[in-house]
Amino acid sequence: MKYYFAPLEGITGWIFRSAHAKHFPGIDRYYTPFIAANQTHKMKTREKKDVDPANNASYVCIPQVLTKVPEDFVYTIRVLAEMGYYEVNLNLGCPVPTVTTKGKGSAMLGDIDALDRFFDRTFELMAADHLTAGISVKSRIGVMRADEAIPIYEVFNRYPLREVIVHPRTTKEMYQGEPHRDVYEEIRCMSKHPLCYNGNITKPSDMDRIGEDQAVMIGRGLLRNPALVREIQGGPALCGDELFSFFREIQKGYEEEMYGDAPVLAKMKELWWYAGDLFPGADKALKKIKKAKSISEYEMAVNRLKEGLPH
Ligand SMILES: Cc1cc2nc3c(=O)[nH]c(=O)nc-3n(C[C@H](O)[C@H](O)[C@H](O)COP(=O)(O)O)c2cc1C
Repeated sequence: MKYYFAPLEGITGWIFRSAHAKHFPGIDRYYTPFIAANQTHKMKTREKKDVDPANNASYVCIPQVLTKVPEDFVYTIRVLAEMGYYEVNLNLGCPVPTVTTKGKGSAMLGDIDALDRFFDRTFELMAADHLTAGISVKSRIGVMRADEAIPIYEVFNRYPLREVIVHPRTTKEMYQGEPHRDVYEEIRCMSKHPLCYNGNITKPSDMDRIGEDQAVMIGRGLLRNPALVREIQGGPALCGDELFSFFREIQKGYEEEMYGDAPVLAKMKELWWYAGDLFPGADKALKKIKKAKSISEYEMAVNRLKEGLPH
């Protein structure tokens, strides 16, 4: 069984990934949030930093790219390959309207012929450029309905993809409701590629239907409980101190990278929004964290949360 940390735009950047890999070893691969490839062929400073090999040296990092244009995709693959990346993941799952209205992300699943032409041209360009980096995809199962899935995965079967990560929801379903595990099983029966399951793994028993031969990608479950993979593997449960020192390290990283309290606070509050569930009955302290207006107020609130825990 392999465990991957899902890309979560705005959350799992290199500072977060580095701290997680240090405090909670055991993740086989971390995927970057998407880099938007465009015709200017210029990566944003934030994107460059996020894939800089020096910032990703302590774990296996797979960069993810969002684009619908084969030329821009292959250009970005070349840049990433020159940095030493041997695999690039294509985002075919983003359901957010600002992305899908431009025909990117999961919108690409809505036109099977165009999807086929995209891969045909991409692999043609890769061959012409003698590029040997592998391509994997992270995909949903359709735009409107779960029964759109099989023709999409038949297209994938025609190309030498290194891996196919399946988040078995449609675009319309965004991130809510139960993933269609039955559709994932159908895909397992017909896919020629190594598959990875993704969606709503939040506790060890959610792994029951996933075979040892597969990979699993976890996103929000690992934000809620950063030690989830260790627990799935039979290791000890997360203890409060571990979470505090993990968050402290992330905070330090953001303080070095960002200017002023506000952006650091916004990042830390988002993490607490996910991890707050670990502290039932600590609503008051969590509310103080949410309302903190400065780093010092934030730290006081975190200390209050710490003190409230049983020793
Ligand atoms: C805030 C947020 C940001 C996300 N950013 C990305 C992204 O950049 N690329 C991507 O492929 N998926 C992205 N996703 C989707 C997750 O990677 C994952 O597929 C989804 O959350 C389902 O898995 P989970 O239930 O384990 O979280 C994002 C999801 C959320 C909630």
